[in-house]
This record gives sequence, structure tokens and C-alpha cells, in this order.
Amino acid sequence: MNFSYHCPTRIEFGMGKSQGLAGLLEEMQLGPRLFAVADPGVVSAGLLDPLIFQLTHAGYSVEMFAQVMQNPRDTDCVAGAEQFREAGCDALLAVGGGSAMDTAKAIALLAKSGGVPAEYVDEGRAYKEMASVVCLPTTAGTGSEVTRSAVITEAQTHRKMTLKHAHLRPKLAILDPLLTLSVPPQVTAATGIDALVHAIEGTTCTVTQPISQAFGVRAMAQIVSALPRAYAQGQDLDARSQMMEGSLLAGLCFGSADVAAVHCLAEALGSLYDTPHGVANAVFLPHVLRFNAKGAMDLHAQVARWLGLAGEEDGAEQAVALLLAGVSSLIHNLGIPALRNLPGVREEDFPQLVELAFANNSTPSNVRPITRKDYEDILWEAFSQPSS
Ligand SMILES: [Fe+2]
Repeated sequence: MNFSYHCPTRIEFGMGKSQGLAGLLEEMQLGPRLFAVADPGVVSAGLLDPLIFQLTHAGYSVEMFAQVMQNPRDTDCVAGAEQFREAGCDALLAVGGGSAMDTAKAIALLAKSGGVPAEYVDEGRAYKEMASVVCLPTTAGTGSEVTRSAVITEAQTHRKMTLKHAHLRPKLAILDPLLTLSVPPQVTAATGIDALVHAIEGTTCTVTQPISQAFGVRAMAQIVSALPRAYAQGQDLDARSQMMEGSLLAGLCFGSADVAAVHCLAEALGSLYDTPHGVANAVFLPHVLRFNAKGAMDLHAQVARWLGLAGEEDGAEQAVALLLAGVSSLIHNLGIPALRNLPGVREEDFPQLVELAFANNSTPSNVRPITRKDYEDILWEAFSQPSS
């Protein structure tokens, strides 16, 4: 098979690595005026202060942008780009989860290439130039620190748009597991499931390739073993470190392949109800796996084995049964609510959810061809799941 793999992001991983931020910036010569993008949770957890102190001490100026929302809005990205230009900044620093990193990527694009996010998606506006982006993830989930995409919601229509271009890859990713120690259990659970889905979908989708599969297989094993520990004991440094490594590997997996039907449904749900992305993935994962396994039994038996849920001695059907039971119980034990219990979810919206999921660019990447009717069936199956 022919394939290509490209990830120019410099990756620095390790306990306390964020303390070397100023030195790394100095080495990479990204400019003295920084634009810091952080969500309010990161600011209130006190994660930003030591970084700002370190940077100002080293002679950097830092312009703050803390208007990051869960499921980031295009309007905020446009406002951020304007602020970036007015302050004459050189590079962006994203501190936070996927929302902060995706907002920073979009600001970096709009500040240099102009326009609004929808133009890049609908009209094919050229991704001419971008400001440099440096990411310090504070959750283990999104993988956005190494991917070429940013998911932005159009405020007026609630539509989720995926900006996708090689230019969107950050220049530098600093992964310091110490930054994830204060993440609360429910966020640990949701972001961890997001990472797991990246690994599963990136490995099994129609556009996967050997390099993505290698990263994905390792990520699956690591996440499934570490996530329950990181959830139960947030101060478990080994579990936090394993999760951060797992989410990075999952990002390197799907970042050069794609996601698939779980994400298509999850993004539809997020568009309508602002559901946290990881929770939205979790409520659909077992049901999409059941659907996909019917069209790709041997591959899903293999997924069960990669996850450590089945052994070589288990036949394909048995392994798939163990996969569905194992994934459902993992999600249940992480305390993630059922679809029917999520705020705002109404049966009347199902046709719209189906349309949104079907229109998602990643629908053709699903390992088993999937129709509107299939999405509808999966949605109802997930909705009939009793409360956890
Ligand atoms: Fe995701």
C-alpha cells in the first residue's frame, strides 16, 4: 500500500518539562511577544501563573486570551486573531485541553491568513500563513498538540467545522504529566475515552496506514490499563504519565489517518447541546463498535486483543463479545452518564443529529459503510441504554 506520514511537531515529554518552557522557546527562536490562550479552568487551577512568571523573567511579554469555551466558537477565534494582531504578537502558547489548543490554532491561522473559519471549510480559502503555536496540554485526551486539525463551532448555526491543514500542526508540544494532576475525575474519564476512541478509530478507519496503526495499537493498550487508575487516584503519577503518553500516541495515530462514526455522532451531539466531547464519544462508542464489528469481525476481534480484553485463544465472535462487554463496563465504571441523561437531549432532535453526523467529513472513513438509517439505529440503541 502507498502511504505518507508527516508530523513536524517537536515533542518534549516528561515530568517537570514545562519548567523548561522559556529555554525551549529561546532555542526555537519563535519571537519575544507571546499570545497565551488558556481556558478559565486552567487559570483558576493556578497552572498559568508559574509559566507566566518563568516567561516574563526570561524577557518575554505575554498577552492573555482566556475566552476559551468548551466546543470553541468561531466568533471568539476571530476576536482572538484581532487581539493578536493589535498586540503585535509573534507566537501562540496554548495551555489547556483540546478547546484551548484548537482555539489557538484557529487564531494563529486567522491572524495571518485572515477571514473566518467557515471560509476555509466552505470556500476552500487558502491556508497561506500561520503564526507558530506551542502547546502545553493539561488534559490527557485530545492529542491536538500533534494533529493538523482544529474543531470550531459556528456560533450562529451550531455547526461544527473541522479546519484541517498541515500548517495547523503546532511547532512544539510540551507534555508534562504534572500539569494533569489536578484534573477532576469526570474530566479525566471523558478526555481519556476521547483518546481511546482516537486510537480505535485511527487504527480501524478506511484511511489508516501502518504508522498510524503502530501508534494506535500501543495507545489502546496503554489507555485501557491506565485510565481506571488515573480516574480513581488523580495523584497517581505513573497513571497520569501513561495517560498523557497514550493520548499523544493516539493523536499521532489519528492525526495522519482520520476518526470515524463515533466522532461523527459525538460532534453532532456537541453541536446541539454543548456536550463535553469525551462524554459524547463515550455514549456512542459501544454501539458503533457493535455496528462496525458486524462488517469487520476479524478486525474487531483484533481490537479486543489489542485492548487486552480477549486472548489469542478466543475466536472472533467470542473476542468481539468480550470487546463490547469490556468497553461498556469501562465506560460504566468511569461514571459517564448515559445518553438519555445528558442535559438537553431530546428525541425530536434525532433527525437533525442524524443529518449532522452523516454530513461529517469523517463519515466515509468509517470502517463499515454507514447510512443515515444506520446512524439513526445507533442513536436509538444508545438512547435506550438504561441510566448508569
Ligand atoms: Fe476527539
